[in-house]
This record gives sequence, C-alpha cells and structure tokens, in this order.
Amino acid sequence: MKSKLLIVDDEPKILRSLKFLLEDNFQIHISDNSTEAIEIFKKEKIYLVLLDLRLKEDSGLDLMEKLLEIEPNAIIIIMTAYSTIENSINAIKSGAYYFITKPIDNDQLILLLNTADEKLKMFQKISHLEGHIKKDIIGESPHIKEVINIIDRIKDTDATILITGESGTGKELIAQKIHRSSSRADRPFVAINCAAMPGDLLESELFGYKKGAFTGAFKDEIGIIRRADKGTLLLDEIGEMDLRLQSKLLRFLQDKEVRQIGDEKTYNVDVRIICITNRDLKEEVKSGNFREDLYYRINVINLVAPPLRERIEDLKDLIPYFIGKYNISFNKNVNGITDEAYEMLSNYSFKGNIRELENIIQRAVLLATSECIEPDLLHISPQSIMNTSKDLTKNHIKIYEGENMKEIEKKVIEFALKTNNQNRKWTAHSLGIGERTLRYKIKEYNL
Ligand SMILES: Nc1ncnc2c1ncn2[C@@H]1O[C@H](COP(=O)(O)OP(=O)(O)OP(=O)(O)O)[C@@H](O)[C@H]1O
Ligand SMILES: [Mg+2]
Repeated sequence: MKSKLLIVDDEPKILRSLKFLLEDNFQIHISDNSTEAIEIFKKEKIYLVLLDLRLKEDSGLDLMEKLLEIEPNAIIIIMTAYSTIENSINAIKSGAYYFITKPIDNDQLILLLNTADEKLKMFQKISHLEGHIKKDIIGESPHIKEVINIIDRIKDTDATILITGESGTGKELIAQKIHRSSSRADRPFVAINCAAMPGDLLESELFGYKKGAFTGAFKDEIGIIRRADKGTLLLDEIGEMDLRLQSKLLRFLQDKEVRQIGDEKTYNVDVRIICITNRDLKEEVKSGNFREDLYYRINVINLVAPPLRERIEDLKDLIPYFIGKYNISFNKNVNGITDEAYEMLSNYSFKGNIRELENIIQRAVLLATSECIEPDLLHISPQSIMNTSKDLTKNHIKIYEGENMKEIEKKVIEFALKTNNQNRKWTAHSLGIGERTLRYKIKEYNL
C-alpha cells in the first residue's frame, strides 16, 4: 500500500508539479496553508510531510513544530529556496528529518522520500510489535487461556499474587500484564529483584532512608515501596530474601505503612504486591528459609506460568512472532520455518522455556540465508530432542531372525535418519560414523 504524503507549499504551481512527480509512489495530499495542513495531517493520520520553509502567512518551522507536537514520530522534510546553512540547522534542530533546497532535484527528492518511507514502515512495524509485547502474552493453548482468564478475574482486586514457574516461562511478562490490565495501569509499575543485592541494601532500597542514617546515605531516599504508591510493586525472586527482611516485609503487608530507615514518621502506602519465585516456597518454609506467615500472606492467589513443554501447540504462534521480531531487529526477510524444523522444535526439550525458544529463533533469523529456517539453523543437538513421540513404534526397530547384517544396518540407518529429521550430520554423529561413510551407505542402500 502507498504511504500518505502531505505536501505543503504556498505556490500552487509547485504543489501541482510535486503531486505529478510523486503520485505514483505516494498517496498525495496537498495544502497551501498551515491551518488546512494541520487539519489534513490530523484527519488523515499522515506521517510523512514535505514542507516549504516559507509559507505566506506563517513560517514552515512553526508549522513543523505544531505537526511534531501532534505526532512526534512524523517525518518532516523541509524544502526551501533560501538555502542558508542557518535555515537548515534550525530546521534540523527543531526536528526536521532532512533538508532539501529548491530548485528541487527530482531524483534526490524521490530517493529521500523513499528512504524516509522505509524508515517509517520499519518504525511502525516495531511499535506495533512493541505494543504487542507490552500488551500480549502470545499463545492460545488452554494453559495460556487459563492464565489470561485468571488475570482477568483478579486484575482489579488488591490481593497479593504469587507467580511461580520455571525459568523463562514468562513470569515477569504475566506480572506486567496484570499491572497493565488493572485500574492501576497509569500508575507506576516498579520491579525489584531480591536476589540482586545483599539484604541491607535491599532493605534500604525498598523502605528508603534519611540522609545520614548510615554511611553512604548522602541524601533522603523515599524508597521503592513509596515510589510504587497507587501502583504495583513486583518483588522478583522473593525466595532469596533473608529472614530478617521477610519479617519487615510482613509487617508492611499487614500495616501498609513504611518508615524510612532513620526516620520516625510512617507513611501510608497503597500498593499492589506481586511476588515471583521459581523456588518451591513450601519446601523453603519446611526447611526454615522462608517465613510461613509471609508465605500465606503473599500466596493469596497463586498463578503458575506453565512450562513450554505443556503447551507446545503455542509454538505455532510463538515462532512467527519471534521471527517477525528479529526480522525487524536484523533487517531480514525470513518468512517461516520448514516443517522439519518445526517438528524438531516440537520435540525439543526446552529447559529455558520461552526465553530459550526466543534465543534459538533469534540466532536462526540472524544466520538465515534463505526465506525459510531450516533444521540446521536451529543449532540444537539431536540429544536434546525428546523422544515423546506418541507413536511408540516409531522409536523401535524390529530385527527378525535370519536377517543379515546388511539388512539390519539399512534399518538402523533409516531409523537414525528419521529420528534426526534427515539431518545427515546429526545422523552420522548419533551413529558414531563419519558423514562420508553415512553418505556412502545411503547411496548403497538407496535410502
Ligand atoms: N507467552 C509469551 N509470549 C511472548 N513472549 C514471551 C511469552 N512468555 C515469555 N516471553 C518472553 O520470554 C522471555 C522470558 O520471559 P520472562 O522474563 O517473563 O520469564 P521469567 O519466567 O520471569 O524468567 P526467569 O525465571 O528467568 O526470570 C521474555 O523475553 C518474554 O518477553
Ligand atoms: Mg523473571
């Protein structure tokens, strides 16, 4: 689809000739004055503008500033006959994308507009994706639907939520989603990782301190809990918090009051707490590493981030999503994955869950030289592919009495090729023979 381009110039002749020049490549809108230009710009949601620096009643620079106020991501190219360095510097300083002097060199203009258009499209794709990342948890498996359903039901309660799950399953993403779907969405979302610092430091970060309360307290600090007031506070890796601080946190959860270290006063805080852990907190309670009362206090609602292996059908949404994401980052044009590669991922045991999948796809997109991701680009070893195939017979070879060595060898190679998705390198590796030998055997047995 052609992008929209708004041309603003006070000379009708120029407007006409530019329209004629550019209408093959763009959907053109024209105007000879600021007021109308702003109207069109807003109504048509235009992102690309070619603007004369000197208009009749006001300056192009002023108009440019107004347009950028309305849409900061718009690309504005200034044209002027007054090609002084000063003009161009001012225009660029105020946010113009580029500066072109009259009389206009048509080829230069077209090139410039096309580059700007590419940039815009790229930007729009990225912001669309970012919007996606921010808003959406990808996947339509029953597990993910259940998570989304729970989020929907609890988003506006103030209940503390404990999110558990293996590494890389999207626990933080779920926490963000809860915040964004809640009535606290336009208030702060503050996250702190309890494993990232020693207890004393964590305490002062959370609760704040008065200047001089301890060495290094050079100024007053209100602390993260108060910074999250009216919003959401995420305590990541809560299982790592030391027992003393656990008590202090528990008191805060009961009283909803904080006192900065070295201060007398207490402050009421209204904050929704989400905790994350990949430890088994019940076990930690049993072994005395986690306070039981705190455990019950934070575990009002438990949300479990399901591991990828329990929702492998989500690969069909996750893979294209990550391909799209990295196409943009790496400026690539990968449009999919071969059936074999897909099959391989479906049987792969993802220890790092979605994060690992994302890394695999990222690398594959980066290395891809064709439009489709082939199995060898995944760089996953045959050993880590689970044999969870439902068809158990697939994982056996039957050998019958009276079969000779060659017949058996043929079956073994056939089987190994199949389990390695016809990848010869891995097949050879799994059989402990060289690739050349394998090639020779394949030919010999006509496989
Ligand atoms: N359902 C999903 N859809 C899209 N992206 C996801 C999904 N789940 C996780 N991700 C992505 O995978 C990565 C890991 O997610 P996140 O950091 O939320 O996991 P985590 O459970 O907190 O991991 P860890 O235990 O290692 O802290 C992030 O880049 C996240 O955006
Ligand atoms: Mg995390």
